[in-house]
Order: sequence, then structure tokens, then C-alpha cells
Amino acid sequence: MQGKVVVITGGTSGIGQVAAEQLAGMGARIVLVARSQKRGEEALSRLRGIAPGPPHGIHYGDLSRLSDLKRVAQEIAAAEPRIDVLINNAGAMFGQRQLTEDNLELTFATNHLSYFVLTDVLRDRLIASAPSRIVNTSSHAHYRGTLDFDNLQFEHGYKSFPAYCRSKLCNVLFTRVLARQLAGTGVTANSLHPGFVKTRFGDESGGAMASIIGLMKIFAITPEKGAETIVYLASSQDAAQSTGLYYYKSKPVEPSKLALDDAAAERLWKYTAGLMSH
Ligand SMILES: NC(=O)c1ccc[n+]([C@@H]2O[C@H](COP(=O)([O-])OP(=O)(O)OC[C@H]3O[C@@H](n4cnc5c(N)ncnc54)[C@H](OP(=O)(O)O)[C@@H]3O)[C@@H](O)[C@H]2O)c1
Repeated sequence: MQGKVVVITGGTSGIGQVAAEQLAGMGARIVLVARSQKRGEEALSRLRGIAPGPPHGIHYGDLSRLSDLKRVAQEIAAAEPRIDVLINNAGAMFGQRQLTEDNLELTFATNHLSYFVLTDVLRDRLIASAPSRIVNTSSHAHYRGTLDFDNLQFEHGYKSFPAYCRSKLCNVLFTRVLARQLAGTGVTANSLHPGFVKTRFGDESGGAMASIIGLMKIFAITPEKGAETIVYLASSQDAAQSTGLYYYKSKPVEPSKLALDDAAAERLWKYTAGLMSH
């Protein structure tokens, strides 16, 4: 990873933090995207401690907001002449249905729209930097995800876990269309499940599911273990040619039947692209 540039969201906590630190340790220059100045500065100073050589950077924005997403992505595109790896990893689950300033359901906006918009704006940079890679953190929760295009924003019947599962299904569907569109460009795109990992995930969600996740964390793996598949997809020579696949424990595994539905994937793509013009 010597001399490579890695852009990562969710690098201020959990598996994203560990992945950023490990990739920095391998020689990469890290560009963080974060919402909190305090947590961002702390993450940046840890990176500088681990790998003081390359000038790691940071851009601030709330990844659930379309205006912030577009601004941050454009700032990165202007500042970085090359991007070798884009890791879309920031994500969360919410106990109550909340709407963003763009009138979108918060889980959908944070977990899916952010991946779509950052990738869209940075796409030309990634193509110009080929061979390059896009790594999207999904979850085995996607196996329980459903799509209802008449109720995609959970206007009716919101529940935190189904909304989360849907957003993680969107991650796999998005990655598969992306890989198809990028075929022949030298840019790969894969999604992954990190395992059930002891991070801050769920801590601030509220609701019953957050309490259940809190209790289950005694069975969870460490963030170091959870980051392994991200680091593998971002850096390994073995994974250099793989694209459009869903990984767990650094191996491709079969995603859900719905995640393999090409018509649903294209429909989701069109729907999400339509939101970008808001
Ligand atoms: N933990 C698990 O068991 C598990 C299992 C499967 C998949 N995943 C996935 O793994 C990814 C990382 O989660 P984690 O477990 O490492 O959780 P985490 O410790 O809560 O980290 C989440 C990261 O996302 C950032 N983030 C959340 N909302 C954001 C927003 N609106 N704008 C900017 N940044 C935002 C957080 O920033 P702050 O530091 O500012 O909070 C933090 O850096 C998520 O996509 C999650 O769905 C986790």
C-alpha cells in the first residue's frame, strides 16, 4: 500500500478506524471523512502516530445529508489527483424513524445514499487511478432485507432492524451494479460482512434492538478481527481482480436471492440516482 491513497468513511470508530490504521501501517495515505471535529482530530492524530510519513487528511461532513455528501466528495475530488481505494463504511441503525433535511429516512440516507453519492462523485478519479478498488461494508443483516419500492423510506411500519437490513441489502445491490458498470475500467467493487463486531454500533440507536445488540456484544469479535475483510479487499493481491462479489472472512460467499436480483438492483440504482438531483 506504499504511496497509495485510501479514502474511508466511518474511520473514526470501530472497524473503519482499525482498517484505516492498518492500511496506514502498510504505507497508505489515509483520507478520512468524518462528521465530528473532536473524533476526527483524534483519529487523525492516531494515524499520524502510527504512520507519520504520509500527510493523512480529513474532510468533515454529515454523511446523511445530500448537501454535505456532495460538498465533501467534491472537496476530495479537488484535493486528490489520484484515489486508489474508496472504502464506504460509515453506517448506523436508528430506534425511531427520523427524516433527514432531504426528507429521506435516516438509515437509508446514512447507509446507502452516502455510498452512492461519494462513489458517484469520485468515480472519474477512481477510473483515472486504475487499477483501483471500491470496498463497501454491508452486513449479513442483508439476508433479512426486503425491498418495497412503494415504501422504500418506511413511510409505513418503520422498525429499526428491518430498515437496517434493507439498507445493507441496498449496499450489496449497489455494489453489483457498480461492478458491472465499471467492467473493463480496472476499478473493482466488492461488498462484505465484517462479522458481528464489538464496536460503538447500536450504542446510540435507542430502542429495543439497541439493547439486544448491547447484550449480544459479549459474543462479538474484536474490531481488529472485524476489519480483516476490509483490509483484505483494499490491499490484497489475491483480491485485485475480484469484482461484484460479497465477502465474508476474506472469501466470496453467496449473498441473498434478493441481492442477486438484477432488475431490483437496476431499479434501486435509478431511484437513488434520481435523489441526487434534489
Ligand atoms: N458492528 C457490527 O457487528 C457490524 C456488523 C455488520 C456490519 N457492520 C457495518 O460496519 C460499518 C461500521 O460500523 P461499526 O460497527 O464500526 O460501528 P461504529 O463503531 O458505530 O462506527 C460507525 C462509524 O460511522 C460513522 N458515522 C455514522 N453516521 C455518520 C454520519 N451521519 N456521518 C458521518 N459519519 C457517520 C461514525 O462516526 P462517529 O465516530 O462520529 O460516530 C463511525 O465512524 C457499518 O456500515 C455497519 O453497518 C457492523
